[in-house]
Amino acid sequence: MAITLAFDVYGTLIDTGGIETHLQHHVGDKASGFSSVWRQKQLEYSFRRGLMQRYETFAVCTGHALDYACLFCKTPLSQAAKQELLNAYSRLPPFAEVKAALTQAKAAGFRLFAFSNGTEDAVTRLLTHAGIRDLFIAIVSVDEIKTFKPHPAVYEHFLTRSNAVNTDTWLVSGNPFDVLGAVAAGMRAVWIQRSSDAVFDPWEIEPSLTLNSLAGLTEAISCHINNGNKHR
Ligand code: 2OP
Repeated sequence: MAITLAFDVYGTLIDTGGIETHLQHHVGDKASGFSSVWRQKQLEYSFRRGLMQRYETFAVCTGHALDYACLFCKTPLSQAAKQELLNAYSRLPPFAEVKAALTQAKAAGFRLFAFSNGTEDAVTRLLTHAGIRDLFIAIVSVDEIKTFKPHPAVYEHFLTRSNAVNTDTWLVSGNPFDVLGAVAAGMRAVWIQRSSDAVFDPWEIEPSLTLNSLAGLTEAISCHINNGNKHR
């Protein structure tokens, strides 16, 4: 069966650090710290809501995390400023190598899907703005089953929606929590370690492959498969 690739979106295809240029207008030299707190809380809120079974969309988590970052960084923002930042979040840039890497993977015969905590509408807007929406067969959102990554149900849902089996499916993600969840669900997973400072959680689970960007992804997966590394 053809190999299926499930691409995480925020932090993998789309550069969430791209919000910093918008933040600088509002919080000046606090932008980098503010952006980190915002992203960390956005994810933490999704984890909490999954555990609490109190689902709201990823956009709601993003908005609440923005409110938290304003309080934590002691930088109160007007509603208008917050709305401008949330609008900017829906138009973040792709990482530089993404379009070429996706084009190469598609040409190699891989089945490409976007797979995200974001709603289908939000991810469609992001990928369309980034000029890469047409490279994907479909967008699979956890919103369809009202919980978040890394709940095992979201990976099962992806396999159902993409009509794929876990042993022929590779998650591609810059987020270790997502890679851990996918491998625990029996999928293969590539960790995109975009910074040498990024640390993979020291758990009993490891990524199948680690790359520092999407460049070379097609060769790396093809080589892994051709070398018969079926079981990792
Ligand atoms: C995603 O796009 C949160 O980056 C994660 O699902």
